Formats: sequence, structure tokens, C-alpha cells
Amino acid sequence: MPLLLIHGFPLDGRIWEAQVGPLSKRGRVIVPDLPGFGRSAPEPIGSIDDYARALLGLLDRIGVTRFAAAGHSMGGYVALALQRLAPERLAGLVLVASRAAADPEEARPAREAMAKRAEAEGVEFLARSMPERQLGTPTPGLVERLRGMIRAQSPAGVAAACRAMALRPDARAQLASLRIPVVVIAGRLDRIVPPSESESMASGFRLVWSEVSGHLPMIEDPTLVASSL
Ligand code: MLT
Repeated sequence: MPLLLIHGFPLDGRIWEAQVGPLSKRGRVIVPDLPGFGRSAPEPIGSIDDYARALLGLLDRIGVTRFAAAGHSMGGYVALALQRLAPERLAGLVLVASRAAADPEEARPAREAMAKRAEAEGVEFLARSMPERQLGTPTPGLVERLRGMIRAQSPAGVAAACRAMALRPDARAQLASLRIPVVVIAGRLDRIVPPSESESMASGFRLVWSEVSGHLPMIEDPTLVASSL
């Protein structure tokens, strides 16, 4: 079964680097950059569903009908959108440090402020502030690697993602109703998605804890993530 690996915000497909080798021995692995991130040009994106439509178009072009999807954080929102838009195509779902709930109303102004700031001054403020928050144990090497990846993202892509995330629907009922294999991978040290939220989201599904990870288990605990996917 082909496996689609969807990156989170404000990163790109390189976050899955450590998993691609081991997983490619078992089957086809597809690691896109979402529109406006990494090597993908910005496209008009108004919602998380638009990212999912772009991925479905990519999968059509490369001849993939049925697939499993693993999404990190924002990538998990996109994976849930794939399931909403094309349920017959999704054979399994892995949510890594992600959420099914929508943004609370009061979080939306901060998303818009981040979008506007990225448009006005570029992504440097995110490169400076995010890695320490994302990592459970922010070592200098990992912090620098993440700063470099964030600096490579386009302000337009980042702004579109902020606005799309703010508008995403609550997917908790959708997730609870799924009858395909679902795995939740969560970092015990995650400061962005609290462990209690992962625990309640994973109710009824397999939950894999990384004891050493914050928000980026695929980078902080690569072998655990590769073996859980
Ligand atoms: C991510 O890592 O993709 C973000 O934390 C998602 C979000 O801001 O909701």
C-alpha cells in the first residue's frame, strides 16, 4: 500500500527524511511538499481542503488510487481532509502530534496576525521563535536544522497555511467514526499539542508515545516513528 507522508507547519517534506529509507524497503513512499512549501510553488489555498485537493491531484498524476496517509500536525489536518474528500481512497491514517479539534475561536486572531506578519516581514520571526517550542529537548544541532528549514519557506505559503488552519472544521466526530486502521503518535514533551489532547483524540485507536519527543517525533525519535508507520 503506498504511504503518503504529509509535513506540518511551517516545514516541508524533509521532516520525514529519517523514515523514507526504512519505509521505502516495504513499499512506495510519497513525500510531497504542500503548495507554497519546500519545492512546491504557491497555489491559491483558501482552506485545508485545498491542500487535500492538491494532493489528490498529485496522486492521480502518479497513478496512486488507494493509499495510507500519515500527517504531522497541520499535515494531520490535511490527512483528515483527504478522508473527508475521498474516503474510498484512504486505507489507513496516522496522526503524528496532530489534532482533530478545530482552533478555538479566540486563537483565530493570532493566526491572522501571524499571516500578516509573514507577509510584511518574511518568515525570520518564525525561524527564530519556533524550533525551541517545537522540540522536547532543543539541542543546538536540531534547532539550527529547523531554523534552516523554516527560513526556506515562502511568506505567501506560510500566510495561506495560517489562514487555512484557522478555518479548519472540527474533525473529532469524523475521526471517531473511522473504520480504517488509525494510529496516533504523540510526544510526551509536546508543548504545542498537549499529551492530554492526544490521549483523548486516540480513544479507541492505537496510541504510540514517544517519551523523548516534543512536537516533532519524526525528527526527535525517528526509529520509533518509522517502526510505527
Ligand atoms: C504544525 O506543527 O503543523 C502546527 O503546530 C499546527 C498548528 O499550528 O495548528
